[in-house]
Amino acid sequence: MTDLLINIDHVATLRNARRETFPDPVHAAALCEMAGADGIVFHLREDRRHITERDVRLLKQTVKGKLDFELSTAEEVVGICCDVQPDLATLVPERREEVTTEGGLDVRSARDRLREVIPRLYDAEIEEVALFIDADVAQVEAAAEVGANAIELHTGDYANAATREERQRVADQLAAATERAHALGLRIHAGHGLDYNNFPFLARHVPHVEEVSIGFAIVARAVLVGMEQAVREMCRIVKG
Ligand code: PXP
Repeated sequence: MTDLLINIDHVATLRNARRETFPDPVHAAALCEMAGADGIVFHLREDRRHITERDVRLLKQTVKGKLDFELSTAEEVVGICCDVQPDLATLVPERREEVTTEGGLDVRSARDRLREVIPRLYDAEIEEVALFIDADVAQVEAAAEVGANAIELHTGDYANAATREERQRVADQLAAATERAHALGLRIHAGHGLDYNNFPFLARHVPHVEEVSIGFAIVARAVLVGMEQAVREMCRIVKG
């Protein structure tokens, strides 16, 4: 069975658009958990465009399920992550000009920095360290080499596939990556662009995915039907 972790960054984006105190992502996280989510994900960006340090500290105190802290390898956020001690740290690439994370890490070119950061995260008693990577067997092998014990596969290309053939082709690449990761003993997560319509095909064609991280689709639906209903609907799809 696949676990559903919900990314609440977009609740903070809405709050910050009016420089307000609401809607509060901490409040949203509690509603997500009450409606059946297995955990909460946030990305503390270097520019603090959505989640703030205040949110992070309160989420740490209030989230009951798995807490996934997405971060770049920038020194400042690595320090905060070590201090907060989430259950899972997911290292992602970060560019200021992007609207959202646009692709996976190039593990080989970031290798030296990753080899410094990953042991510090384990030393801070963070049990699971994932690298967000594209569906590429070489990246999976590089993730294991630099010491990660998990990967999150980028599903953006899968979500953007324009035709059924294209979707199948990308799903095959994802499946090759998960098979390799499984053989290497890595835990396997997936996320980006997953929604109420495209998840079932992924679930049928890509084995070994233990958890998915879904944000935009759920927050967008919550605007229309309420957070708890939006989460319950996604739980039925992801968790069966
Ligand atoms: N996983 C990672 C690493 C991400 O950066 C994001 C986007 O913040 C997600 C998952 C969730 O993507 P979406 O909001 O499209 O569901």
